[in-house]
Amino acid sequence: MRLADKVAIVTGAGSGMGRSIAETYAREGARVAVLEVEEKAGRAVAEGIGENAIFVRCDVAKRSDIDAAIAATLKAFGSLDILVNNAGVSHVNKPVLEISEAEFDRVFAINVKGLFMFTQAVVPAMRRNGGGVIVNIGSTAGLRPRPGLSAYNATKGAVHNLTKTLAVELAPDKIRVCAIAPVATDTPLLATFLGNAEGQREKFIATVPLGRLALPQDIADMALFLASADAKFVTGNIVEVDGGRCV
Ligand SMILES: NC(=O)c1ccc[n+]([C@@H]2O[C@H](COP(=O)([O-])OP(=O)(O)OC[C@H]3O[C@@H](n4cnc5c(N)ncnc54)[C@H](O)[C@@H]3O)[C@@H](O)[C@H]2O)c1
Repeated sequence: MRLADKVAIVTGAGSGMGRSIAETYAREGARVAVLEVEEKAGRAVAEGIGENAIFVRCDVAKRSDIDAAIAATLKAFGSLDILVNNAGVSHVNKPVLEISEAEFDRVFAINVKGLFMFTQAVVPAMRRNGGGVIVNIGSTAGLRPRPGLSAYNATKGAVHNLTKTLAVELAPDKIRVCAIAPVATDTPLLATFLGNAEGQREKFIATVPLGRLALPQDIADMALFLASADAKFVTGNIVEVDGGRCV
């Protein structure tokens, strides 16, 4: 068990890769707080894991929700070792001139401000604990941005930059901070990236050297490695899980 006795928070854990990360962490011995804005989905994931999980409804764009979720986690499990900032949204793939101010504000509020606020909020508990690990879900969109996703791509560039900044700033506290940059992954969010044109999925797959989309478990496996003692000397990295797409 690679996460025995660890306590983890996973945001946006009701679906896609967040769900897979929460389930993988629990299988490896962690107690997991499943945070999700969609109550039904989050509750179902926590119930599926069983007694080593709690569900907390949390909108990461609201500081009061974040503080309440951390308090609920500490009350249930007593400490906090790992935070996975996974919750994220996109806008539909479209030209830059068609992206509204409201769409821009929404992606930044959740993908960047939410991640920033959550990180601020967990640092005191991790300091008390003598250290911790923060895993941010970035994207290949932040490394090799493609047309049609300008605001979303910019949020992931910000996530990568924050990851590196916080890795060096929090290293004296023994808090490691890394990001995963997944390529297009088979989750409900995928449709917003690919757009509706026919054959997009096949066209995209043809650009991935390993010849397929990522699966949520591919991302969960990397999130497990980064959170575990196997990665004890790893911080500030943006790790592509992309089948070679960014080469
Ligand atoms: N799917 C992809 O192709 C892909 C590729 C690279 C990176 N990502 C990133 O991976 C992360 C997870 O996405 P996914 O593909 O699993 O999508 P998903 O839609 O399956 O899961 C995202 C979850 O986050 C939740 N969420 C949204 N807003 C929230 C908020 N304000 N507070 C709390 N929870 C919220 C959603 O309800 C959903 O359950 C995101 O950060 C996304 O940007 C996805």
